[in-house]
Amino acid sequence: MAVFPITRLRRLRENPKVRQLVRETRVSVEDLVMPIFIFPGKKQKRSIKSMPGIFQLSPDLALKECENLLKIGISAVLLFGIPASKDPNATSGYAEDGVIQQTLQLIKKKLPEMLLICDVCLCDYTDHGHCGIVREEAGKKFIDNDPSLEVLSHIAGSMARAGADVIAPSDMMDGRVQVIRDELDAAGFKHLPILSYAVKYASSFYGPFREALQNQPAFGDRKSYQMDPANSREALLEAEQDIAEGADILMVKPALPYLDVLTKLRQEFSVPLAAYQVSGEYSMIKLAAQHGIGEGRSMVLESWTAMKRAGADIIVSYFARDYGKYL
Ligand code: PBG
Repeated sequence: MAVFPITRLRRLRENPKVRQLVRETRVSVEDLVMPIFIFPGKKQKRSIKSMPGIFQLSPDLALKECENLLKIGISAVLLFGIPASKDPNATSGYAEDGVIQQTLQLIKKKLPEMLLICDVCLCDYTDHGHCGIVREEAGKKFIDNDPSLEVLSHIAGSMARAGADVIAPSDMMDGRVQVIRDELDAAGFKHLPILSYAVKYASSFYGPFREALQNQPAFGDRKSYQMDPANSREALLEAEQDIAEGADILMVKPALPYLDVLTKLRQEFSVPLAAYQVSGEYSMIKLAAQHGIGEGRSMVLESWTAMKRAGADIIVSYFARDYGKYL
C-alpha cells in the first residue's frame, strides 16, 4: 500500500516528456531583466573585480549591450548610473545631461522596443554613498527622510523626461512612492509605472554591487532604512504601504535567501512581484562555476525556477545575458 504513491509519482518523473508536461513552474526569457552599470565616456568598458563577466559600460556600449539582449529575447534592462561627479545632495542624479539621462535618450532613439527601467536612489550620486540626505545633530550623523524625498522626486522626474519607461525607487525612504507618483502625475507621466523595491533587506549580499557602483557608504551602514533580515511580517507592512502610495510592481531583494518572503507577499497581494538576484548571489554562483564546484547554467536555471516557484513574476539577474538564451 505504502509503495503505491511512490510508484505513481515516479511515473510522472521517468519519461522526460511526461516530466515536462506536468512541470508546475516555467521560466521564460520574457521574465528576465538585465541590470546595466553606466558611466560617462565613449567606447569604454571597465571590469568589476568582484563580479567576473559584468562590466561598467559607457552609454554607447550600453546601447550595444541592449542590441545583443534583444537578439536573445530580453527586452527589459535596469539602469544604474555612475556619474562624473558626486556631492552630498545627489544633484548629478537629476542633471539634464546626466549619464543615465543621456543613455535613456540614446537607447530610446535607437532601440524603442527596449523597456528602460530606471533605478532611482541617492546612493548612486552622493559622495557619502548613502541612499538619503545626511544630517548631523549633536555630533551624530543620520539619514534625514523627508528632505531625501524631494531629491528622489527630482531624479524620478528627470529620468521620466529623458525617456524612462518604468521608475524603480530603491532607496527605502518612507513615503517615496507617493512623492514620486505625485511628481510623475504632475509632469505628465501618469502612464509610467512604479516598480518599488518595497522589501529590501540590509543584506551582506550587496558587497560586489558596491564595487560596481562605487557607492560604499563613507560611514555607518544602511540598517536604519533597509530591513532587518530577521523580519518577514514587516515585509507585509512595507508592501502594504507602497501599494497604498501607488506602487504598481513590488520587488523583493535579495532573492534566494528571502524566497519565504516572496511567497508571503504572493499570498497576500495580487500585484506583480519581482525578485532581484543581487550581486552577491551572482558572484557566489559565478565563482563556484569558475572553480568547477558546480555547473553554472544548471545552478542559474534552478535558482530562477525557485524564484518563480516562490511567486516571482519578474526576475532581475546579472545572469540574464549569459543564460537567458537557454530558456
Ligand atoms: C542601492 C542599491 C543597492 C542595490 C540596488 N540598489 C545596494 C545597496 O542598497 O547597498 C543592490 C544590488 C546588488 O547587490 O546587485 N540603492
